[in-house]
Amino acid sequence: MNIPHSSSIAKDVVFGLNCVVGENVRIGAGARFGNMCIIESNTVIHEGVNMDHFCVIGEDCIIGARTKVRSHVELRKKTIVGEDCYIDSGVKSSGLNRIGNRVTLRYDAIIARGCDIRDDAYICPQVMTNNLDHNGKEVGGAMIGEKCFIGTNSTIGAGISLAARTVVGSKAMVTKTIESAGVYVGVPAVRIREL
Ligand SMILES: CC(C)(COP(=O)(O)OP(=O)(O)OC[C@H]1O[C@@H](n2cnc3c(N)ncnc32)[C@H](O)[C@@H]1OP(=O)(O)O)[C@@H](O)C(=O)NCCC(=O)NCCS
Repeated sequence: MNIPHSSSIAKDVVFGLNCVVGENVRIGAGARFGNMCIIESNTVIHEGVNMDHFCVIGEDCIIGARTKVRSHVELRKKTIVGEDCYIDSGVKSSGLNRIGNRVTLRYDAIIARGCDIRDDAYICPQVMTNNLDHNGKEVGGAMIGEKCFIGTNSTIGAGISLAARTVVGSKAMVTKTIESAGVYVGVPAVRIREL
């Protein structure tokens, strides 16, 4: 495998077949990669990260220590992921996203640009966060507070914040900021009970 001189890879890092590493990449001790992973320029992969096959990690990304990344994950430019996260197969980040520590992103979640997902949040399969309004104008990504649980197939509108520990039921559409934690369901999402 051809590693550019500008990149620094710890000695015990293990790569699968046909991986590609860009310029100025740093990879910490004990990291492991499956087959055909691409790590683009200026990205930092911390110690103990364990990535499966066919992942594309864009430029200027950071993946925190011991985070597990399953197959077919695409994290675009300037996605920052904390420590001890679980990024399931098919997850996509459209870039400029910040994901805290111990966050779980399940199968096929799509995290739109500018999202801030705080520590210990649990994002179920096929959740989508929005960034654009209906005129295609960037409104900003969502802020999902600490320990939030976002149910399967829900959509979190652009620029919306969710208070820490908020629970959103499956198939909800959250259209307004949620300032006090509780259980919210439906389209549009409404509060059905306290926690
Ligand atoms: C929202 C949720 C947490 C509520 O659980 P709960 O507090 O036990 O609520 P209940 O099942 O008692 O339902 C309370 C009411 O909300 C309704 N409701 C529950 N979940 C709903 C949902 N996702 N959308 C719309 N209505 C919902 C119920 O029909 C019930 O209505 P009723 O009072 O008119 O009969 C749960 O239903 C849910 O959606 N969890 C997400 C699960 C998930 O995505 N798991 C992924 C694992 S990978």
